[in-house]
Amino acid sequence: MEDSERLTYRLMDSDDFEFYYLLNSDRQVMKYAYVQAYETETQAKQGFDKVISEQSDSSLGKQYIVSIKGTMEQIGIVDYVVKENNSFSKTCEIGYFILPEYWGRGYAAEMGSVLVNYLFSDGVAQKLTASCHEDNKASEKIMIKLGMKKSGVNERARLKGGKYSDEICYSLTADEWMKEC
Ligand SMILES: CC(C)(COP(=O)(O)OP(=O)(O)OC[C@H]1O[C@@H](n2cnc3c(N)ncnc32)[C@H](O)[C@@H]1OP(=O)(O)O)[C@@H](O)C(=O)NCCC(=O)NCCS
Repeated sequence: MEDSERLTYRLMDSDDFEFYYLLNSDRQVMKYAYVQAYETETQAKQGFDKVISEQSDSSLGKQYIVSIKGTMEQIGIVDYVVKENNSFSKTCEIGYFILPEYWGRGYAAEMGSVLVNYLFSDGVAQKLTASCHEDNKASEKIMIKLGMKKSGVNERARLKGGKYSDEICYSLTADEWMKEC
């Protein structure tokens, strides 16, 4: 992926465990995520090894480390997962995770936009989806900023803290994205 105004992107690799662990064990970051925050380094290492082993398989998806241009400051991860890739559908789910000290500066919208541009321009996807916990208003706002449209509500699909909550779903097709450009 190409750099954006303030940010630079590179594929996560086997040297990135420390940052992966920092982000994925942060309770604020993981509060509304599909999975729980890692409690131990051992758990995190298992998750990390799986991600790294899948990074080379482009039929599955990719995770990118995002840094502030011209610095060594790593702020988050932007990713996509291939949901469908067959003669009927080419659909990817996108996601974004940022360390709390960098929230509220427009970075998620910036990195999301770069990912969307890349996935459509390079023909990786014809349709993108994203979803969030019903209380994750910042995440929903990013989907709207990316030009995505609400496609539905997956009722009681997320279990967090012993409570089932709704999942809000958004999507964007390549045709819709082209019209916006
Ligand atoms: C979601 C997340 C990526 C947003 O990152 P960010 O860099 O702060 O996002 P931005 O600054 O680009 O934009 C956030 C927008 O949400 C808005 N927002 C934030 N909290 C909000 C709330 N509680 N209610 C309504 N809007 C809210 C902000 O005002 C901003 O909109 P604006 O630019 O129009 O003012 C970040 O909070 C995060 O990493 N959260 C934890 C991981 C996560 O939940 N990822 C999404 C998984 S689906």
